[in-house]
Amino acid sequence: MTLILGLESSCDETAAAIVRSDRTILSHALAGQEDHHRAFGGVVPEIAARAHSDLMMPLIETALADAGVRLDDLDAIAATAGPGLIGGVMVGLVTAKALAMASGKPLIAVNHLEGHALSPRLVDPDLDFPYMLLLVSGGHCQLLRVRGVGQYDRLATTIDDAVGEAFDKTAKILGLGFPGGPAVEKAALSGNGAAVPLPRPLKGADEPHFSFAGLKSAVLRAHESGQYRAEDIAASFQAAVVECLSDRLHYSLSRMDERPTALVVAGGVAANMAIRAMLEQVAGQYAMRFCAPPLWLCTDNGAMIAWAGAERFAAGLTDPLDVAARPRWPL
Ligand code: KG4
Ligand code: ZN
Repeated sequence: MTLILGLESSCDETAAAIVRSDRTILSHALAGQEDHHRAFGGVVPEIAARAHSDLMMPLIETALADAGVRLDDLDAIAATAGPGLIGGVMVGLVTAKALAMASGKPLIAVNHLEGHALSPRLVDPDLDFPYMLLLVSGGHCQLLRVRGVGQYDRLATTIDDAVGEAFDKTAKILGLGFPGGPAVEKAALSGNGAAVPLPRPLKGADEPHFSFAGLKSAVLRAHESGQYRAEDIAASFQAAVVECLSDRLHYSLSRMDERPTALVVAGGVAANMAIRAMLEQVAGQYAMRFCAPPLWLCTDNGAMIAWAGAERFAAGLTDPLDVAARPRWPL
């Protein structure tokens, strides 16, 4: 059995967690930075990097203490090495390098998207490769076939905005606050999803990709028209997102010869209940099992990085201490 420390700092969550290869989460410490960024209505990279730098060491100490583990007990140290805001990524990666050097333990440079992609396996021992993964976060919207650790076939991606980005921009337009996704979901609960006519970008298109930029512009126009309540725009926006995701999934799933038996969702937007409900229904239509990690594991956290580290370590994949942080790093 191996013990892995995982560090995450690619956006606005600073996190450290200790996970064992038998899927036990010994500890996970996390600090959000919402208060730092709220006044700006979005994440400010320079402020985020400074906050990561202040928070990272105390969080690591908390994670070690909560787990009752010393640095020497670890088998490897994993950190997000990209993609993300480069200042933040460097804080986590350089910290991991320093700990690896001081302790003589191997370093594992984790792709943040791989952290999301493998996270469902941390809580579901029966989730075997291959599986279909809808990865929906603040920076990404991709449909992948996960064949194994480090083996990803990208079947579809967004041609413009990520879906989380569309949620965040909608929240900003409607003045619902920051972070945007949960705020839009909450407002949508008291709105009418059929009240505002919004487009369904790429619905019915003869290609597998996603698009959300047109939806965001339509939300802006609806808001500026002064005709609609913010709750109704939020609900109509969410309904449009659900319909687009569902249509695009049907496009790809219906055309697959050897369809994997599980449909998995991961990334921050996977916390959205309307999207989860739709995915469960789509999975049922293809007799696929639906897997969604618990909400805390959907948004950025250290446990998913530690777990991806554990999977990579088991596959014999470690990295040299001069491995570079990468702002862009496709899976
Ligand atoms: O995976 P994540 O924590 O960070 C990235 O790697 O991007 O995803 C953050 C994104 C944000 O855009 C946030 O608004 C969105 O996930 N999000 C949600 C919900 N919770 C978080 N979007 C819709 N509904 C939610 N409940
Ligand atoms: Zn993420």
